[in-house]
Amino acid sequence: MPQQNSAPLHVLRLACSPRGVESESLRLSQQILDRLSRQAGERGLALIDSDLNDLPHADHAYAAALASPNEPDRAHPGSTLQRSDRLIQQLDAADVLLIATPMHNYSVPSTLKAWIDHIVRIRVTFIGTPQGKQGKLRDRPVYVAIASGGLISGEHAQQPDFLCPYLKAALGTVGLHDLHFFSVEGTARGEVALEAARERTVAAVERFFAAQC
Ligand SMILES: Cc1cc2nc3c(=O)[nH]c(=O)nc-3n(C[C@H](O)[C@H](O)[C@H](O)COP(=O)(O)O)c2cc1C
Repeated sequence: MPQQNSAPLHVLRLACSPRGVESESLRLSQQILDRLSRQAGERGLALIDSDLNDLPHADHAYAAALASPNEPDRAHPGSTLQRSDRLIQQLDAADVLLIATPMHNYSVPSTLKAWIDHIVRIRVTFIGTPQGKQGKLRDRPVYVAIASGGLISGEHAQQPDFLCPYLKAALGTVGLHDLHFFSVEGTARGEVALEAARERTVAAVERFFAAQC
């Protein structure tokens, strides 16, 4: 008989918007979270919520450690290397990664970029090989909830989208390839357009999870 997993589904959610509880991408991520919770059923869901707004950028010590082949085994307490260790452990402990992010200037906001700089780490989450970078993390589902002021996909897209291809490349570097993107687009186009965009996206989320059953 196949073994039932009785441990709760561990979800790590990254909140990347500066807009706190008013964030549209956070709102969309909540709909995905609700669907994951239903999917988890009796197993239950354990959520770690991480707001990236206070995450510092990589600093001098971190850059020096990454550049050195003799990176210390134990990072100094309080250093960005130790922060990176913690963020990587937090990511590795998750069964599912859920990213709630706005588009900022065609790409990820700097909050999310700072997190990526801490978790994409040579010798720890990827290694260099003659064939290129090879990820070391176990693959797992990654859901990306995006909000954008204008349209970024489809034939009516008004601007380039570097966010989705960038996330695919950056997370793929560490071994995360199972990415699923959902977006509420055109949040700056007025209430009526926003409501319609929300409805379309909720329907897309529902279709996706229904197909998983
Ligand atoms: C600094 C900044 C840059 C932005 N750049 C873009 C952009 O390039 N394209 C776009 O469609 N919207 C852009 N927007 C609008 C946001 O993507 C939009 O307001 C989105 O709904 C915000 O999501 P949130 O509520 O989760 O923060 C930008 C907003 C800010 C604050």
